[in-house]
Formats: sequence, structure tokens, C-alpha cells
Amino acid sequence: MAFGNVYKSKKVLITGNTGFKGSWLSAWLTMLGADVYGYSDGVPTTPSMFDVLKLGTYVHHRDGDIRERETMKSYVQEVRPDFIFHLAAQAIVSESYKNPFDTITTNVVGTASVLEAIRTIDWPCTCVIITSDKAYDNVEWIWGYRETDALGGKDVYSGSKGAAELTIKCYWKSFISNMPNIKFGVARAGNVIGGGDWAQDRIVVDCMKAFSQGKTVEIRCPQSTRPWQHVLEPLSGYLNLGWYLAEGRSENGEAYNFGPRAEQTKTVLDLTKDLALAWGLDAGEAVKVTGNVPFSEATLLKLNCDKALAYLHWHSTYHYEQCIRAIAEWYKAYYVEKKEDMYALTINQIDDYMAVAASEQLVWAL
Ligand SMILES: NC(=O)c1ccc[n+]([C@@H]2O[C@H](COP(=O)([O-])OP(=O)(O)OC[C@H]3O[C@@H](n4cnc5c(N)ncnc54)[C@H](O)[C@@H]3O)[C@@H](O)[C@H]2O)c1
Repeated sequence: MAFGNVYKSKKVLITGNTGFKGSWLSAWLTMLGADVYGYSDGVPTTPSMFDVLKLGTYVHHRDGDIRERETMKSYVQEVRPDFIFHLAAQAIVSESYKNPFDTITTNVVGTASVLEAIRTIDWPCTCVIITSDKAYDNVEWIWGYRETDALGGKDVYSGSKGAAELTIKCYWKSFISNMPNIKFGVARAGNVIGGGDWAQDRIVVDCMKAFSQGKTVEIRCPQSTRPWQHVLEPLSGYLNLGWYLAEGRSENGEAYNFGPRAEQTKTVLDLTKDLALAWGLDAGEAVKVTGNVPFSEATLLKLNCDKALAYLHWHSTYHYEQCIRAIAEWYKAYYVEKKEDMYALTINQIDDYMAVAASEQLVWAL
């Protein structure tokens, strides 16, 4: 009965379904009995979670660019989804330095195009729009950011997410709030880690690739701190939000932060060493600090998640150690044990996560 069974036999459209989060969300929704539809511009990496899990056999996938407004609209009209989760984005910070214009068009104009498609919906539909913790204007204070704090962004990726938020807000206020058939929410989460990620310049990916080849991982900004969380944490938040919106349990048109426990704010060095240990390596030998930072990125950004706790009864599930263990298990199954059925392994991990959430009395898991 997870999420009140609200997704069972429902059509759920995910933009960005071939990406890291989109693949996990697709797997979870298939497990919940949903009929999953995906829209993405191809598969972003090789290998990819989408291909490794053979998700193309579990979901209806359509190749397309979210910036193509008419194509996006007609796909939404063709599918007639009960739920939309918008995740498609240029999500890599280093790539935004190489291709700033593309990052802006995908993240801002692409989001506007999804919102245009939502405006054409004339049946009941619940829409969850995913942005990022980086949408906040990072003033590098020690407190967690609240949903009412200023949006902004000094680098292009952050700016594109801040601009996406402003676009979402004006579409909501000008059009979507007047559509009684649409339930609408915005979700902001931070750095996620987990099995199945192969995106460039992500530290866990670099570690897993290096460890699987018996190489040392080089880290360039060892003291950078991030509020690391397993990918299932924000996804449980997105699904929780979709459920509450669909059943009218939470207010329409609101934004929510989904972040980890405070104890999970660790340095890159701590994370890499803990991953090495979980892989069964000597952390001192497996990790080498090179100290060369290639581009400027904000040093600290934490989310205050009191709103999600108060209105959605959501908080994160895993402790840091459980998160590290799950990641090492996933990549070892892929690289070392060469498991054939990574879809089954992923579903098992989701099952474990749901069992821990149920033991913590999280309403969505009961
Ligand atoms: N991974 C993180 O740590 C993190 C943190 C905060 C927010 N987010 C946000 O979560 C969402 C998903 O992130 P992810 O890590 O899965 O990213 P990802 O890079 O793994 O996947 C991005 C997805 O978007 C699709 N896409 C990109 N450009 C597109 C376009 N123009 N048209 C159609 N599809 C396009 C890709 O094909 C892929 O399916 C993004 O909005 C991202 O900004 C991610």
C-alpha cells in the first residue's frame, strides 16, 4: 500500500526517464504497478541505468527534446497521463561551463515547454516539477535554506535552476492555478548518490569506476561538503508529494525541499574513504588528494526540510552508513559479480528502503 496505492494502474509520464533519477523513479513506479511513459532526448551515458536495467522493456519510451514545444504537447495529449514528473534537464555543473546556452535553453525553455504542455491538459492530472537545491541564492550561510528564501544562482547551472523556478512560479500564478483539474507541486532536492549513476564529474561515479578497475581515485576538492543522500530519498519525497496532491491532502502550487539528515553532511574526502571501505579496500591507498579544483562551485548548501515534515509527513529514511552500503552493493553487483538481472537487484534495494521507511513509521511506506 505504499503511497496509498495511488500510482497503481495509473499512467505516469516521466521527462528525463533515461537519466539517473528518472531510471530509479521508473523502476519504482513499475514496482508500484504504474503504467510508465518516458520522454527524453536519448540515453545520456554509456553504460546507463536505463540500459543496464533494460527499462525500455518495462516502460513506454519516446525520444524527444523537451524544448520542442509542439512535440512535447502532442506527446502529453497522446498519453493522457494521470501524473507527470518533470525531471529532464542538463544536470551536470561542469557541462554548464562548457555549454551555458544549452543549459539555459534546456532547463528554462524546456521547463516552459513542459508547462505549456500542462496548460493543454483537460483531464485530472497531478504534476510534480523537479528543480534543485541549487535554485536557491547560495549566500553560504550555515543554516538550511527554506522554501521562502531567495532564488538565484551564481554559476550557470544554478542560475538556470533559479530561472526555471521563476518560470514555474509565473506559469502557476498566471495559468495553472486557474485549472481545477491540475494538482501541481515543485520539488527541490540536493546532491543524490546511488547505484546506477554514470554521469560525468560525479564523485561516486569516479570512485566506483576506479575501484572496479583496481585504480586509485583522485579527488580535487576534498574538503567540499555536500549533504549527500541516496537517490531514493528525494524520489520518496516526489512520490509522497504526488500522492498528497492527487488526494488533496496538501496545498496546490507549493514548493518543498527534500534533503537528508543533518549528520549526512560529509566532506568529499569522508565520502570517498567510506565508499572505499565499503568496497573492501584500504581507504588510504584507494583515495588520492590532488587538490586541483577545475571550476568554482558553491561550498555549502543545506536544505531545511521542516515543511515536508509538517505537511507531507516526510523525512529521509536512510542513515549515511545505509546509503554507502547500498551504493557499494549496487556497483559491486554490476562490476564484480556481473549480475544479469540488475532490475531485480534494484527492486530489492527499493524494497529494503521501503521496509526501513515503514519501520520508521513514514506514512508513505505504511
Ligand atoms: N543528480 C543530482 O545530484 C541532482 C541534484 C539536484 C537536482 N537534480 C535534478 O534532478 C533532475 C534529474 O537529474 P539526473 O541526475 O537524473 O540527471 P541526468 O543527467 O542523469 O538525466 C537527465 C535526463 O534528462 C534528459 N534530457 C536532458 N536534456 C534534455 C532535453 N533537452 N530534452 C529531453 N530530455 C533531456 C536526459 O536524456 C536524461 O534522461 C534534473 O532536473 C536535475 O537538475 C539532480
